[in-house]
Amino acid sequence: MSEKPVKGIILAGGSGSRMYPTTQAISKQLIPIYDKPAIYYPLSTLMLGDIKDILIISTPRDLPMIKDLLGDGSQLGLNLDYAEQAQPNGIAEAFLIGETFIDGSPSCLILGDNFFYAYDFPKLLRTAVSNLNGATVFAYQVSNPSDFGIVEVDENFKAVSLEEKPELPKSRWAVTGLYLYDHRAVEFAKKLKPSARGELEITDLNRAYLQLDQLKAVALGRGTSWLDTGTPRNLLQTAQFVQIIEDRQGLKISCPEEVAWRRGFISKEQLTRLTDALPKSTYKTYLETLVRDGYLNY
Ligand code: G1P
Repeated sequence: MSEKPVKGIILAGGSGSRMYPTTQAISKQLIPIYDKPAIYYPLSTLMLGDIKDILIISTPRDLPMIKDLLGDGSQLGLNLDYAEQAQPNGIAEAFLIGETFIDGSPSCLILGDNFFYAYDFPKLLRTAVSNLNGATVFAYQVSNPSDFGIVEVDENFKAVSLEEKPELPKSRWAVTGLYLYDHRAVEFAKKLKPSARGELEITDLNRAYLQLDQLKAVALGRGTSWLDTGTPRNLLQTAQFVQIIEDRQGLKISCPEEVAWRRGFISKEQLTRLTDALPKSTYKTYLETLVRDGYLNY
């Protein structure tokens, strides 16, 4: 168990070119995935890991809009901080930007366009957070491994090698955009050199831990859904997935107000006050029903 609580980082930067022309005018973090802004999903994921101190990194243009949406986070029992990534210099730059915020703590980084959904996922994440030692990545089998960071594993699921978007992948296990690091992430990130595409690669940071034999790969099994929202096609697919599950069950996926209450970050009274203040909407009706009936959380 790490001595200090794990701090969260949501990297919501990038030029948004894959979502052009929409991103000409709107932050891709604020585009709805079905019924809520995209950033609610990674935010809820961190919250399900019981992470309350969270730094949101985005572009100078988008950051104020995200701040307008989430504020200081106190309404959700969170402590939200904000920082700019002026240029898309790579994912690992998050640790240079976040150095003061991290302040020698272990950290959990999630990419703004990553979507995780599975029955046992919150527990798996909380276990990984409380057993953190070195670094942990979460691996998921994909049909298009050349599009991702790939981890090669042995028969005991021990990480053997890492490659970023390899032409000839050594496995189909993609490294998902959720990473856990001990307090050394900043120190290691400072030693990284930009890759051929001019970015500080998260795969290189992970490799620094792998070389010390301190990288743990955790398999996200077949019942897990790991989707992404970074292109119009993927965004639509993820939105449809959310719609199907939410319509079927009448339970929302990644509703931060609900997660805050269920994880005990806010009381029922706080949830009620927060709900009362919302404009008339199906989102409000959902929270009103939640306050009234609770819903069993299986
Ligand atoms: C990034 C990482 C890659 C990882 C992926 C997960 O790629 O570089 O290793 O597998 O996120 O979403 P990007 O999608 O930014 O190209």
